[in-house]
Amino acid sequence: MNVALSKPVAKQANRDRAVRNPYSVLPNWLYPTFVVVALSLFGVFAVWVVFFQRDGHYAPYLSPFYSPLIQVGPIPPGVWVAWAPLAFRLTCYYYRKAYFRSFFWHPRSCAVPESNRRYRGETAFPWVFNNFHRFAFYATVVQVGFLWFDAVIAFDFGGRLGIGLGSLLMIANVVLLSGYTFGCHAFRHLAGGELDCFTCSIAARARHQLWKGITVLNIKHDRWAWASLFSVAATDIYIRLLLAGMLHDPRWVT
Ligand code: FES
Repeated sequence: MNVALSKPVAKQANRDRAVRNPYSVLPNWLYPTFVVVALSLFGVFAVWVVFFQRDGHYAPYLSPFYSPLIQVGPIPPGVWVAWAPLAFRLTCYYYRKAYFRSFFWHPRSCAVPESNRRYRGETAFPWVFNNFHRFAFYATVVQVGFLWFDAVIAFDFGGRLGIGLGSLLMIANVVLLSGYTFGCHAFRHLAGGELDCFTCSIAARARHQLWKGITVLNIKHDRWAWASLFSVAATDIYIRLLLAGMLHDPRWVT
C-alpha cells in the first residue's frame, strides 16, 4: 500500500534515512553520545589531575600523568608531560573523526550533506594544527619509553622482585598505550610510505615487515585509542586511591 507523505514529513523521513548507519544495528545516537560523554569526562578528570594535583607516586607505582617525573618549583609535575599525549590524541586521525562527528556534527557522517557549512578538514585555522600530528607522535614515543621504564620498576619492591595489582595495571596500561601509539597512521606512513618497491633491498624489505606489523595494530586503532584512554585513567585513579589510604594493594613479593 502506498502512503502519500506530506512534503515536510517526507523530507524528514529522507533525512532520517540519510544518517542511518547501515553497518550497525545500534541506535544512531549511541556512538556520538558515548564519544561526547567519555571525552568530556576524561577531559575534566585530566585537567584536575594535571593542574590541581601534585602527587601521583605510590612506590613503586607512578601515575602515567606524571611520567617522567619532573618537579621544578611550584609548577605541577603533570604540566611538564601532559602536553605530548594531549596533542597526540587531539590530532589523532581517529579522534578527529570522532569529535568532528560527535561534538560538532560537522560532518555528521560519511556522505551526509551539510546544508550551510562546508567541511574544510585541516585546511583552515584552528584545525590546520592537526597537521602536526607526526611531531606529537615523536614526543609521545619518548614518553611511552618512560612508561615502559615505570612499568618495569613497578615490579621492584625495595630491591625485591614482586607483583602487585598496581604492577599488573601499569603493565596493562603501557601495553595498551603502545598498541595505540605504534598503530598510528602517521607511523604507518613513515614505515611504508613513499616506497615504490617492497622487495628491492634489505631496507625496503625491513620497512615492509614493519609496515605490516603496524597495519595489524592500525586496523583496530579506534579500540586501542579507547582502551588506552580508560587504562590511563584507571591506573591514575588506582594510585590515587592507594595514596588516600582507601585501597590496599594486594601484592606478592619474593
Ligand atoms: Fe591516531 Fe596517530 S592516527 S595516534
